[in-house]
Amino acid sequence: MHFRPQRWLPKDHGLYDPLYAGDDLKGLHPFSQGPRACVGKEVVWWQARLFFAKILWKFDLELAPSQEVNLEKDLRVYGMYIKPEIRVRSTPVRRANA
Ligand code: HEM
Repeated sequence: MHFRPQRWLPKDHGLYDPLYAGDDLKGLHPFSQGPRACVGKEVVWWQARLFFAKILWKFDLELAPSQEVNLEKDLRVYGMYIKPEIRVRSTPVRRANA
């Protein structure tokens, strides 16, 4: 499996790539399945939605310059995730009526 977040984009999105049209997205189970699946799943979904909604409402995010981050190479998973450092520049969103 490769880190290709664009596979989740809807067809009408500008960055949609038909390369991923055949992906079975229901095959991903980050919280596992069955009786020992994550009991925090619903909490996490709501927390994540709220977090990203608030952050993206307030800020435009971009990768800070001069970084060589390759998640396919630098993100390690050994049961736990070993994450590379990623610096992100956040700029307050400008809204006409804000
Ligand atoms: C993005 C966040 C999270 C992910 C991806 C995640 C994922 C998982 C996965 C894959 C398992 C199964 C582990 C296994 O099979 O050994 C699990 C179990 C569990 N998770 Fe989470 N989890 C997350 C957050 C949370 C949170 C916030 C809580 C508590 C509020 C929580 C509570 C639990 C518990 C208690 C279990 C053990 C369930 C059992 O064995 O019956 N998790 N989680």
